[in-house]
Order: sequence, then structure tokens, then C-alpha cells
Amino acid sequence: MQEIIHQLSDQFKADLNSSNTTESIENLRIRYLGKQGHITLLSQQMRNVPPDQKPIIGSALNQLRQTILDQLQLKTIQIQKAAEAARYANFDPSLPGYPFPHGSIHPISQLLARAVAAFRRIGFSLASGPEIETEFHCFDALNTPPDHPARNELDTFYLPDGRLLRTHTSSVQIRVMQQNPPPIRVIAPGPAYRRDEIDATHLAQFHQLEGLCVGPDVSLADLKGTILFFLREMFGPSVQCRFRPHYFPFTEPSFEIDIRSPQISEEWMELAGCGMVHPAVFEAVCNSRGDRAYDPDTITGFAFGFGLDRLAMNLLGIPDIRMLIENDLRFLSQFS
Ligand code: DAH
Repeated sequence: MQEIIHQLSDQFKADLNSSNTTESIENLRIRYLGKQGHITLLSQQMRNVPPDQKPIIGSALNQLRQTILDQLQLKTIQIQKAAEAARYANFDPSLPGYPFPHGSIHPISQLLARAVAAFRRIGFSLASGPEIETEFHCFDALNTPPDHPARNELDTFYLPDGRLLRTHTSSVQIRVMQQNPPPIRVIAPGPAYRRDEIDATHLAQFHQLEGLCVGPDVSLADLKGTILFFLREMFGPSVQCRFRPHYFPFTEPSFEIDIRSPQISEEWMELAGCGMVHPAVFEAVCNSRGDRAYDPDTITGFAFGFGLDRLAMNLLGIPDIRMLIENDLRFLSQFS
């Protein structure tokens, strides 16, 4: 019996050596350890072994069964490892990787970040207000009478409850003054909405950058200095600008700001509206605050509103405002 166990052990070693696939290993397991396997059959003969030899033969048989189990497992792992190595045999780590596409900041956002940084340098902080506004904040408090064309249903998106989508960011001026006493030095960038025909220079949603500076001695000279500083930061020192008299209900005097930049064009381009805050605006703020903090006899201020999309188009040479919302990667990736 001992002899048979020895032979079986040798035979198993030979079989194992010649088995190089997981299937042949499985066959080997069945052949040795399965129901009709060599080891199983041999175990059944244990009852014929004389009692004094049983412990020795039994232990030898158990040892062989365990060895076979261990060897089969080991060989399976070796085969799997070899297969994995073969799979990577042709892998060339020196090849360039697959390009990983990454997004970029939208040109309007890039420009806004620059504009905010420029105004921060001269002490302006950021303010914001809701895009769904009341008529009071968007028009009444800004000295815009009920029959003003801007309030027309054809120009403004009204909600059923009488509120509206703000037609400009100037409404934030009122909110800031209601909530804070002077002095004020804020910019308020954000979207605004008008029922415009959509074309190369108009969208129903566009972006503005509002500014407001209020204090005891704020003058038109301060307004001009601030605007000139900002334009030089954005367009470079050779930018020219002119203040063209204009009309806005909420400022007096009022101007439109045109710029001309040699790198861009010889033409004057309209970029913003501005002016000295109208006393009627301060009165409306006083009334709603219930105090005289913004008494127009002691307080002055200037305000301005830039069209951010137009600024972007001028600065970046974008011919059609619709490109800013089409999400065409060929366009957007030029600004990454
Ligand atoms: N709100 C004006 C517009 O949308 C722009 C503007 C003009 C803003 C003069 C101002 C200002 O703050 O003082 O056309």
C-alpha cells in the first residue's frame, strides 16, 4: 500500500508538470480527488490494511491528498499569473497616454474675473441681487416713471404676480442702499433680461456689470477716474475713452461711455452707461429705509453699468453674441 502511495505521488508530479492550462488542472483534480479519483479509491481500501499499519498508511494518504490539493492550487495561481504577464507583454510604457480632455472657464466668466480683480484694487466689493425683481427695485426707485418705454410688456418679461426679470443690474443699487448706510463702493455683475429680437448683438439674457459709489463728496471726476482706471486695466494704457452726454432716469448728468482702442479698431464703441446718482433715487431710498441716511443734500454718488457681453466681444474679437451661448467647443476651446 505504501508503495502504491509512493507511485501515485510520483505520477501526480509528472501529471502536474505536463498540465499547463486551468482546464487540465481541473481534470487532474477530478482524476485524483474526485469521487472516482485515485486518492478516493485508495482511501476505500484502508479497511483492508492491517490495524497496526493503519496509522502510518492513513497518515501517508492524508499527506498525499493535502500535497495534491496544495500543488493544484499553486499551479493554478502560476498559470493565471503567466496569462496576465502575457497580456502585458506587448505593453509599451514609453508610448504617450490618451489625451485627457479638460474644460475651461467660459470667456464671460474669465472676463468677469479680470473685471472684478480690477475693481477690487480700487476698493470696490461685490454685491448681488435677485434676477426676479420687483417693479419698485427695477423701475420706481430708479426714478423710472410708469409710462417709461422700458416698462412696456413688449420690452420686459413680467411674471403673473407682477414681478419681472430684471432688465438691468441697476436694481442692485437700490438693494445695496436699502441694506447699508453710506459710504458705498460696490460692483454687481450678473445677468439681465429683455424681450429683444435675438441677433448678432442681442440676446434675451445678457450680462451687465453695475457699479455704485456713494459718499459725502463723490464727484464726476471720481466717476471719470474710476472708469478710466478700469478701462486701462482691461484694454491696456493706450485705450481712449469719451463720455457722451445721454439720458438715464436714475442719473443726472448721464453719459454713455465710448472707447477706442488702437489694437481693436479705429471706431468708437459704446460700452457702458453712467452718471451721477439722481436725487430722486436717493429720496426713494430714504423713503423705503425710513431715515435720511441718503439725504441728497449731504450725499452724492456715481453709478455705471457695463455690458459684459459687449465688453467680451470687443476685447476678444467675438463677432456674434450668440457664439457665447452655443456651447460650440471649437469656439470655447479658443479661450482655454
Ligand atoms: N442700466 C442701464 C442700462 O441697462 C445702464 C446704466 C446707465 C447703469 C447708467 C447705470 C448708470 O448705473 O448710471 O442700459
